[in-house]
Amino acid sequence: MLERILTVRVARIARQTPEILSFEFTHPLGRALPAYQAGAHIDVHTPGGFMRQYSLAQDGGDAAPLSYLIGVKREGASRGGSAAMHERVREGDLVPISAPRNTFPVQAAARRHLLLAGGIGMTPLLAMAQSLARSGADFTLCLFARSEEHLAFAEALRAPALAPHVRLHLDREGAGQKIDLRALLAEPAADTHLYVCGPAGFMDAVRQAAAHWPEDALHAEYFAAPADAGGATGKPFVLKLAQRGITVPVAADQSAVDALHGVGIDIPVSCQQGLCGTCVVAGEGAGAEHRDFCLTRSERSHKIALCCARAVGEELVLDL
Ligand code: FES
Repeated sequence: MLERILTVRVARIARQTPEILSFEFTHPLGRALPAYQAGAHIDVHTPGGFMRQYSLAQDGGDAAPLSYLIGVKREGASRGGSAAMHERVREGDLVPISAPRNTFPVQAAARRHLLLAGGIGMTPLLAMAQSLARSGADFTLCLFARSEEHLAFAEALRAPALAPHVRLHLDREGAGQKIDLRALLAEPAADTHLYVCGPAGFMDAVRQAAAHWPEDALHAEYFAAPADAGGATGKPFVLKLAQRGITVPVAADQSAVDALHGVGIDIPVSCQQGLCGTCVVAGEGAGAEHRDFCLTRSERSHKIALCCARAVGEELVLDL
């Protein structure tokens, strides 16, 4: 079950802010790329052997798109991936990527959508906003940035279809350019869904301000597992593979996916932090201690992210 790798050409690199570059990828032969829905991300295999997930920053439309757009912030504490993208990737290069995956979709049934983006976390939400504008939906895109200079994709935000729906919070500006999160989220409105993406401090602030919102109305895309995440280790348990009729023991210091790899069952993995959805398989979710950040409450009844989930009791039943 190896993931399909696509090779794309870097058609354009543009500076968006002092720390953010955008990369536009196209098919090397000019063909269409696999279709996706707003909120999707791709894995990018960067020079130096790193693999990083980046959200697609433009609405893919209804047809297969001719390009993918991502934004890459150069992290001060880069583990190598963002630095490699900034320093070693040039226009014309060929880059391996995964097909798009979406663990952060627009909720079609919602009557209203409130999109909250911190810094580079705007990328999936910009695509969602464009998609919502195209369908005439009721939405607001709230962007939190240090200053106008640190606001990426400013041109897209000025588009006539989007501009009336955009609210800005600029840390370095006066009170007129501030959004009070607590006031904004004080009253959960019926049928309103909240989508949030940004750095850890921003995610925490939104989670606290929206603590009284119904859990199913809150959708989050994390860059990294929060500091209080459960990790992948814990009590030993047994994986029961229903289709194969076998059991696989998982040691206390081992993840379920590592145990499966150990017996030759190839489950694809990417982030290994419960963020990207690559390792998700079908199974009896009620028996799982879910530790991911990509499955919704209803998906957790029948899906399990194996890089981090453990069994509530002695065993976890998988549809494998
Ligand atoms: S590998 Fe990303 S969620 Fe498990």
